[in-house]
Amino acid sequence: MDHKAYIAERLKIEGVTKEEIADSLAVPPDTSLGDYALPCFKFAKLLRRSPVAIAEGLAADFKTDGVISSVSAVNGYLNFKIDRTGLAEEVILKALREKCAYGASDMGAGKTVCIDYSSVNIAKPFHIGHLSTTVLGGALYRIFNFLGYRAVGINHLGDYGTQFGKLIAAYKRWGDREEVENGGIHAINDLYVRFNNEATEEMEAEAREYFRLIESGDSEANELFNRFKSITLAYVEKIYSRLNVQFDSYCGESFYIDKIPAVIDALKEKNLLKESRGAQVVDLDAYGMPPFIVLRSDGASLYATRDLAAAFYRKKTYDFDKCLYVVAYQQNLHFNQLFKVIELMGEPWAKDMVHVAYGMVSLEDGAMSTRKGKVVWLEDVISRSVEKAAAILAEKNPELAGRDDIAEQVGVGAVVFGALYNNKIKDIVFSYDKALNFDGETSVYVQYTCARAASVLAKLKDTPLWNGEEVGMNAREFELVKAVSDFPDTVKAAAKNYEPSMIARWCVDAAQTFNKFYIDCRIVNAETETLRRFRKALTEATLTALTNALTLLGIGVPEKM
Ligand code: ARG
Repeated sequence: MDHKAYIAERLKIEGVTKEEIADSLAVPPDTSLGDYALPCFKFAKLLRRSPVAIAEGLAADFKTDGVISSVSAVNGYLNFKIDRTGLAEEVILKALREKCAYGASDMGAGKTVCIDYSSVNIAKPFHIGHLSTTVLGGALYRIFNFLGYRAVGINHLGDYGTQFGKLIAAYKRWGDREEVENGGIHAINDLYVRFNNEATEEMEAEAREYFRLIESGDSEANELFNRFKSITLAYVEKIYSRLNVQFDSYCGESFYIDKIPAVIDALKEKNLLKESRGAQVVDLDAYGMPPFIVLRSDGASLYATRDLAAAFYRKKTYDFDKCLYVVAYQQNLHFNQLFKVIELMGEPWAKDMVHVAYGMVSLEDGAMSTRKGKVVWLEDVISRSVEKAAAILAEKNPELAGRDDIAEQVGVGAVVFGALYNNKIKDIVFSYDKALNFDGETSVYVQYTCARAASVLAKLKDTPLWNGEEVGMNAREFELVKAVSDFPDTVKAAAKNYEPSMIARWCVDAAQTFNKFYIDCRIVNAETETLRRFRKALTEATLTALTNALTLLGIGVPEKM
């Protein structure tokens, strides 16, 4: 429950909004006076009264209830105490009852959110630049589903363009079926790179011809292209499964080619198209943007054209309430133009299109040479993280059973969490050592905390659960109850802001709060039987919330570490 909103709702201060009141509420460092405090100094000028008088007046008018058990005015502060047992009962019992649904909601019932993410390019490296879109999109997909929306995950494959003509030309020259089958995406990429390095006029002409053949439905060219496509997809799907990422649609750019003429007609009908040096464009000068090129002078479509057709297709097919594009901020202009064009076409759903932009990820050891040359392949980053995780686990816990699986969860988790922990728009520099630090703001720290909670619970398996009896909760316990109670609102806020980092941060805070509780309060050997039962229930509720949070981010939760 959001206590700040709850309190703000019950306070009336002339000329101050509920939001301002909620924002002004603070958690005092010493909670013996209160769980929340409102400093009244900031209202003194507005109300032309002393802070002491304001606090006293507000205290006299406030009606306590089952949530707020007492209010007092002290030196210009208005202090609120929460009914701790009441809150604990509500939160803990809810978490224990709902288990993997704790934090879920039906707020999105009947609404659809399309999420375009990862959107890899056929025959091109799946590299570290795709990490954020893949894990951010994957997390948003799970978060929206968890909140009751129908999420539609779309992998808008880059599978159209003259580069595929080049690839076929290269394959025809130097390629070999077996080599490509065995070497997979790397072999295909090598062919493409070689073509670009060695291309002559003549070869370029060949490439154009092969592209024309793909487009005109030539069976050999298409057979080859489809083979390259399935090799790429088989490769990326392996990585998706390691990252716990899924899609409902793999409709790539080529899928929209036959849907372009209808969009062009609509643009013409609205008088939006004009010719510029032979090309067909939508003039966006009035909006401070360069023209949106719809058709090149040779009549060919562009990336932008295919995105325009895709937007209409998605609206028609899914009737979305929101359509998200999880794409790097380098494409800000592209999406601003795209959304503006849709708006100019008079489509009211233009306002439901959102570019969820994110920053760049680079490796701390920028010089890290991969076995494949300059590009940093995502697969290598994941594998290296897993190897390092295995080495750390071997050292910390040589007896650990099932270490390979745990190392996979820890190593993959570190990469995912590394990409999700910061506000998405920030550029990030990934460091294996930082991401795998057991004491840092990391997924391993959170996973380790979960394993610790699980091991306490295993020791208490015969202890019955607490059922709401009064326990005279201490500050440590209460802080943890509050952390668990914050989880459902955190999930909603993460969805609202398209910001899974809010959940990642909640994880670290809650894990830290749990560890303080674990150090300061005896759980297994609690002072009384009621306390033992209460602390067991609190531990289990915490583990439930942390597990749900990590799962939403796409990170596994080992039982032991
Ligand atoms: N394939 C593109 C790239 O790698 C990203 C596509 C993003 N989605 C979209 N609908 N434009 O840059």
